[in-house]
Amino acid sequence: MTRFDGKVALITGAASGIGRSSCVRLASEGASIFGVDINSEGLAETESIIKEAGGTIQALTADVIARANCFEVVDAAVAAFGKLDVLANVAGIVRFASATNVTEEDWRLIHAVNLDAPFFLSQAAIPHLIESGGNIVNIASNAGLMGQAFTSAYCSSKAALVNLTRALAIEYVKQGIRINAIAPGGTTTSLTQSIEFPADMDFELMQRYVGLRGMSDASEIAAAVAYIASDEAKSVHGSIFSIDNGIMAG
Ligand SMILES: NC(=O)c1ccc[n+]([C@@H]2O[C@H](COP(=O)([O-])OP(=O)(O)OC[C@H]3O[C@@H](n4cnc5c(N)ncnc54)[C@H](O)[C@@H]3O)[C@@H](O)[C@H]2O)c1
Repeated sequence: MTRFDGKVALITGAASGIGRSSCVRLASEGASIFGVDINSEGLAETESIIKEAGGTIQALTADVIARANCFEVVDAAVAAFGKLDVLANVAGIVRFASATNVTEEDWRLIHAVNLDAPFFLSQAAIPHLIESGGNIVNIASNAGLMGQAFTSAYCSSKAALVNLTRALAIEYVKQGIRINAIAPGGTTTSLTQSIEFPADMDFELMQRYVGLRGMSDASEIAAAVAYIASDEAKSVHGSIFSIDNGIMAG
């Protein structure tokens, strides 16, 4: 018996990094995965990794920034597997820029992916999660717990996601479902590998967010997703779990 036998997990950001790693990890522990991402190529790769390992996954290419899409995604997951036990909101984007250079388009897009989508997916998923006694895991960031220079939109979106996690946790505290977030620090994924730094950036201001212990692997964050989403974490509710090599310690 594995921790996710008979469980259904909807995971966004499934085409890459922490999302893919979470799909692989939960599938390896018996979950049926409904993997969602805007990147169909990466999603197909995740699908073959899981299927080759004997796991179960259904993939859906979707852009989660629109509320209607979020409801369609949840409906599709429930239609595919008959229920929903875990919603993992992993999809996210970051753009570096001086605050005065953040475009309106980037401000709105970053909030739409990192904050609006987790909220609308939660709205759609909560009735199903109440039925199954399931849970939500949001991937926030250490940038949601501290101010960081040159990522004002990202920090704002992740801080809001942290407090959205707590707000939902308290609202549903009597209803048996669990809502938590993980706050990773620097993790080696395509997100960190493709960052473009603005020419006017002061790297001295960035040093303290890099930390003294280097980067984490996506598999470490996925292991925490698996723990928090499992019944072993039945008392973990409203928690913001840092995995950041000590950055938030001071
Ligand atoms: N990598 C880090 O250092 C780090 C640190 C803290 C938090 N995080 C968070 O972890 C999460 C996963 O990031 P990652 O590092 O694995 O990055 P990643 O770029 O490897 O994966 C993010 C995935 O989200 C998908 N995505 C983006 N916009 C989407 C949309 N509109 N609709 C559907 N899918 C969309 C991308 O296609 C991609 O597959 C993000 O929320 C990120 O903010 C990452």
